[in-house]
Amino acid sequence: MSSTVEFKENTVIVVFGASGDLAKKKTFPALFGLFREGFLSSSTRIIGYARSKLTDEELKTRIKPNFKTPTEKSKAQVDEFLKMVTYISGPYDTPEGYQKLNSTIEEYDAASKVKESHRLFYLALPPSVFTTVAANLKQYVHPGDKGLARIIIEKPFGHDLASAQALQKELAPLWSEDELYRIDHYLGKEMVKNLVPFRFANNFLSACWNNNFIKSIQISFKEPFGTEGRGGYFDSIGIIRDVMQNHLFQVLTLVMMERPVSFDAEAVRDEKVRLLKSIKPFDKDNVLVGQYTRSEDGSKPGYLDDETVKPDSKCVTFACLTLQVDNERWQGVPVILRAGKALNEGKVEIRIQFRENSNGMFKDINRNELVIRIQPDEAMYMKMNTKVPGISNSIAVTELDLSYKSRYSDFYIPEAYESLIRDCLRGDHSNFVRDDELDISWGLFTPLLNYLEGPDAPTPQPYAYGSRGPAGLTDYLKRNGYVFQNRNIYQWPVTTPDVLEQSKI
Ligand code: BG6
Repeated sequence: MSSTVEFKENTVIVVFGASGDLAKKKTFPALFGLFREGFLSSSTRIIGYARSKLTDEELKTRIKPNFKTPTEKSKAQVDEFLKMVTYISGPYDTPEGYQKLNSTIEEYDAASKVKESHRLFYLALPPSVFTTVAANLKQYVHPGDKGLARIIIEKPFGHDLASAQALQKELAPLWSEDELYRIDHYLGKEMVKNLVPFRFANNFLSACWNNNFIKSIQISFKEPFGTEGRGGYFDSIGIIRDVMQNHLFQVLTLVMMERPVSFDAEAVRDEKVRLLKSIKPFDKDNVLVGQYTRSEDGSKPGYLDDETVKPDSKCVTFACLTLQVDNERWQGVPVILRAGKALNEGKVEIRIQFRENSNGMFKDINRNELVIRIQPDEAMYMKMNTKVPGISNSIAVTELDLSYKSRYSDFYIPEAYESLIRDCLRGDHSNFVRDDELDISWGLFTPLLNYLEGPDAPTPQPYAYGSRGPAGLTDYLKRNGYVFQNRNIYQWPVTTPDVLEQSKI
């Protein structure tokens, strides 16, 4: 049976960790979103599984408040969806629960007279029970030659290179790469999914997407809240593991890889791996790390105020790293990864700065800059130098602007998890992480993390909750090739004529 078979009617989806936060906030709402939009048949059976003793009704009451119901019709769909959901309480480490789960699925299959039993297992679970559950599922609930099984697992896929490889070694004999879907939810975000078509369906971009034209690249992740409540968990992780090794690296590979021969999942992932192999080791002397302190007005706590955190913790809640890609296309182009918690805003974007215009007829003209905003409010805008309209010969910075809110106001843009669960149901692996990607990215990050967590670790620079980051940030960016444009000269989006007036160079 082909692994790209689409799971359509009578699929059984089992959500492990059903009583936990991830399932409540992301997995079940995503399944409802797919149902609401007509991408999940009402013949689907959804079984929540966890250790907590809950009734079906208690589970439904827990998950319902997070469903998005923008219309009257969608409100009415909630009950219809919940009819598809049941719950099984059972242990993760002994056979009984799995045997019960298997017989429940077999009863569904018999009642709906399916020829093939297709099962999707979603593990919304901490890594400590990953392999136990994966092993028991394989032994007791896999349909064998009676159908297909797919298993979705959530990060973290290891803590460093050795643990990532150990996890892989445990999983590989149980579940083939074909059956395994490692989720990185950034790959389900609309603008991230747009990177491949945007880059490769626009011929003029291919001509300038290289070191002859591009001066620097910055990928930044900013969150306006700290680790409140989960400091204890975050303390052994830090921002680099939390979002850089996975989310930002995935974005980076899509921005910088060569053109895949097709949209085929292996073709795309082969190119990502090739790009990853060209990244040079991080220069540990060129990193800027920070940790947030109390907000200036004292209303928000500092990282160390969290009682679950070690009082002398050097945990990095902000980091800026610069890497180099050692291939013909990118040699000499610095790539800055920047991520932080408890900052002044929530925003994830890619900034690509082009080389300066040659002087002569112009001088001191601003660099062109392409900004791809992943969230909030998906947008792409290219900063352009044009003549100020009217009786003027001055040059001003303006933009070619694709803001999804205005251009695509009527479109349904799926949540990342909706998009990825749908990909998995269709058997499409392109937006999931392959095992060799993990080996290479952990190979790059592990020496840096060992340094930052070892005896010679630098003390992270303090920054106030709600600020832009540590004081050295602007200098760091400048030193590494990213030039800030004066906000008095250019702002996006431009809304009033006087801003245009101010934007004269
Ligand atoms: C998760 C991190 O993977 O991504 C969180 O563990 C982070 O710390 C989250 O907040 C960000 O995801 P999003 O979709 O809100 O940008």
